[in-house]
Amino acid sequence: MRAVQITELSGPRSALSLVDLPEPEPSHVLTPGNGVVVDVHAAGVSFPEVLQTRGEYQIKPELPFVPGSEVGGVVASAPEGTGFAEGDRVAAFCMLGGFAETAVAPEFLTFPLPDGLDFAQGASLVLNYHTAYFALVMRGRYREGETVLVHGAAGGVGTAGLQIAKGLGARTIAVVSNDEKERVAREAGADHVVRSDGPWKDQAKEVSGGGVDIVIDPVGGERFTDSLRSLRENGRCVVVGFTGGSIPEVRVNRLLLNNLEVVGAGWGAYVMGKPDVNREIGAAVARLAEQGFVKPIVGARFALEQAADALELIDSRGATGKVVLDVR
Ligand SMILES: NC(=O)c1ccc[n+]([C@@H]2O[C@H](COP(=O)([O-])OP(=O)(O)OC[C@H]3O[C@@H](n4cnc5c(N)ncnc54)[C@H](OP(=O)(O)O)[C@@H]3O)[C@@H](O)[C@H]2O)c1
Repeated sequence: MRAVQITELSGPRSALSLVDLPEPEPSHVLTPGNGVVVDVHAAGVSFPEVLQTRGEYQIKPELPFVPGSEVGGVVASAPEGTGFAEGDRVAAFCMLGGFAETAVAPEFLTFPLPDGLDFAQGASLVLNYHTAYFALVMRGRYREGETVLVHGAAGGVGTAGLQIAKGLGARTIAVVSNDEKERVAREAGADHVVRSDGPWKDQAKEVSGGGVDIVIDPVGGERFTDSLRSLRENGRCVVVGFTGGSIPEVRVNRLLLNNLEVVGAGWGAYVMGKPDVNREIGAAVARLAEQGFVKPIVGARFALEQAADALELIDSRGATGKVVLDVR
């Protein structure tokens, strides 16, 4: 099969090689001896793959390895009792190995691809939408009708966060850096859009009538203190990532004075050993897809052999929605 490997840790432009590899065995590291084998039509590309080309991601496999955490495709084979059969359209989280014509995922991280979503959207469904649901509902304890502010709102996690929040009845405020990203955030369901280089904290307080209930923050960095200032009493700031480059520190007196919470949301670490939690999130995301709220926005598509261009787009802050490789 054709696949793209990371062969050296020299950054997105030079780290990748297009190679020919044997098909993988029907086994996944999380379910040894067992796995759903997927003919990959589209592979999702995300921030972790950029970091992996520099050896900067927490998961550091031995070189060379095939990156790619999630795919949209068709089941080639599935173990009995999994509910999946050859020919089923699926969205699957394989963790690694997605930049290839065939990938293997655990049964509990494989989900039927909702009608109306294509393979590229399937390759955009698990990482961002499951993270967004986990962050908003399970960690942020979202309640219907609350106001949710989303940073990096035109990005993968951001657009997913907006769609999930809208689907659950939230009022949404998106923080973005330019016009094109504003357009994407509105397409994803933002009720209000504010600029990251403007007085967004004051604007957010104004349109929410005194402060937002939840901040979903995949960006971190300098703006974190203003995120806390934008919350109302009982507000929760959910930490999802640090695309802004630096890891913020909290002066905890702010939490005490305004009765606030800072909550961590590490989806992968939490769900990998918990099949039932994955199924619960999968069912909620499927429901929101059926209702038309979950509809991944694919901002850019590249051929498998152009994987370096896909990674560079993300690295240069140029990506909107999800970046996808068309594999077949
Ligand atoms: N906790 C979890 O379980 C989990 C799961 C999935 C992903 N993540 C993390 O969440 C983060 C976002 O992932 P993503 O796929 O949404 O990324 P993405 O599509 O590239 O979006 C990230 C957004 O961050 C904003 N940003 C602000 N400063 C930036 C900078 N200096 N460089 C690049 N972007 C910057 C950009 O929006 P503006 O230009 O509008 O500011 C960009 O749209 C990543 O750190 C990822 O590792 C965490």
